[in-house]
Amino acid sequence: MDIRSLVDLEQGTISRELFVNEELFKREMEQIFSRAWLCVGHEDMIQKPDDYIVSRMGGDSVILTRDRQGAIQVLLNTCMHRGMKLCRYDQGNTRAFTCPYHGWSYSTDGRLVEIPGELVGVPGFKDYYREKLDKKAWGLVRCPNVINYRGLIWANWDPQAPSFQEYIGDFSHYLNAALDHRDGREGGSEMIGGIQKWRVPCNWKFVSENFIGDMYHDISHRSVDLVGIGPGGKGRRDASRTRTTVSFDALGHGAIGELPYHQEADYVSAYKLFPEVEAYYRSVFEARVKNLGDRMRVNHSVGTIFPAMSFHGRQPRTVAMVHPIGPTETEIWRIFLVDRDSPQVVKDANRHYYMSYSGPGGLTESDDLENWTYATEASRGPIARRFAYNYQMGLGTGRAVPGLRGATENGEYSEGNARAFYKRWREFMEARSWDELMEASRATMKESVHG
Ligand code: FES
Ligand SMILES: [Fe+2]
Repeated sequence: MDIRSLVDLEQGTISRELFVNEELFKREMEQIFSRAWLCVGHEDMIQKPDDYIVSRMGGDSVILTRDRQGAIQVLLNTCMHRGMKLCRYDQGNTRAFTCPYHGWSYSTDGRLVEIPGELVGVPGFKDYYREKLDKKAWGLVRCPNVINYRGLIWANWDPQAPSFQEYIGDFSHYLNAALDHRDGREGGSEMIGGIQKWRVPCNWKFVSENFIGDMYHDISHRSVDLVGIGPGGKGRRDASRTRTTVSFDALGHGAIGELPYHQEADYVSAYKLFPEVEAYYRSVFEARVKNLGDRMRVNHSVGTIFPAMSFHGRQPRTVAMVHPIGPTETEIWRIFLVDRDSPQVVKDANRHYYMSYSGPGGLTESDDLENWTYATEASRGPIARRFAYNYQMGLGTGRAVPGLRGATENGEYSEGNARAFYKRWREFMEARSWDELMEASRATMKESVHG
C-alpha cells in the first residue's frame, strides 16, 4: 500500500484506510509501536520489590516489574520455550515467574541471576536435558530502554532510538505541567485508585487525535455540560478555558494548551462547593507563584505524545495509555493523579469527580467513546472507505511559538495538531530506521511553520 497517498497534508485529507485496514495496522505495530517510546505504567503500580503488572507495548504483552534491587524492568510476557503467555494475572507480587505449560521459571532477583528475567528453573534439567541447555541464553526478552519520567514508566524496543528527553523535546513543558505537583514542584503526584481498563471497538488514533487538539467536538458534550458535573456545580470543569492548540510538527506531539508565560494567570477558584478543597488549591496556587518565580511555564493542558499516550493535565487530571488491539479495537487504560501530599478530603473530592467525568462510566468520556465507535463502524464499508476524512480546518494558518523549539500555534479551532500527528505517522510508516526519522525531524524543523 502506498503510504504517501493516504495522508495528503497539502489538501488536508486522510484516507479512511488508516482507521480500518488490517494490513496497515500490522505495519503500524512494526513501524511505530516497535520503535516509539511508549508509556507502560506508573511507578505507583509497582511500589514494592517483586510487584508487577502486565502491560502492553503495541501488539506485545509485557511484564512491568520492580526487581529485588529496586530497578524497574520491562520483560516480554511470553515463555521462551514454546511461547506460553507467562503471566496471566493483571498484577501481583512474585519472586519468580513460572510458566504454566512445562514449568520453566524466570527470576529478576539479582541475588539469583545476573540478567533480570534469566531462566532459573527447568523441570528435568538433569534427567531430560542432560544439563545441555544454555539457561543464560534462554532468559526472557528484556526491553533495552526503560525510564521513569516523573512517575510514568516509558519503554522503547529500539536500541537506536533517541533518549526520551530528545523524543519529547520542548513538549516536556506540557507533560511536566500534567505530572508535577500543582504547586509547581517537580513530580510529587500520586496515582489514586486502580487502573480503569476497557475495550472500545474503534481505531486507536481516534483517541490520540481527540486529546491532541480537537476543541471542535464540544457539541458532543452538550448534555454533560447541562447536567453540570464540574466541582463548582456548573459545566464539566471549572478550570479556565484554554484558548489555543500547539503542535510539535517535527515530533508528532501536540496539546490543547496555553502558550508559555512567566506570570500566573488569574486564579480561577474551582471546587466552590467544597470549601476545604478550594482552600487547599488556593494555598497551592500561592505556593506555585512563589516556587516558579519568573520561570517559564505553561498551564495545565490536554495533549498527546505520539503515538498513543494522552493526558489531561487540568480537571480531571488523568493519563490515558492507549493500547491498540486490532484496527478496530482498542484497549484504553486510565489512571488518575493527585498531589501526593494533599489532604485526604482533596483526594476524595478529586476521585469522585474523576469517576463522574472519565472512563467507561464517566459522563464526558462516554460521549467520546460513542463518537469513536460509530465513526469506526461507519467507515468500514467498501464504499465508505473510498472517501477520505477532512482535516482542512485552519490549513496554512500556523505560527511559530517564541520560546518553544519546533512548536506551532494553531489557534483554538484548527486541525493543525492532527495534521502534525499524521505527518509524523507517515514518517514512521515509511522510515526504515531511527536515522531516517531523525532526518525527517530535522527537515521539518528547518521549514518555517506548518499550517
Ligand atoms: S511453554 Fe513455557 S515451559 Fe514450555
Ligand atoms: Fe471529548
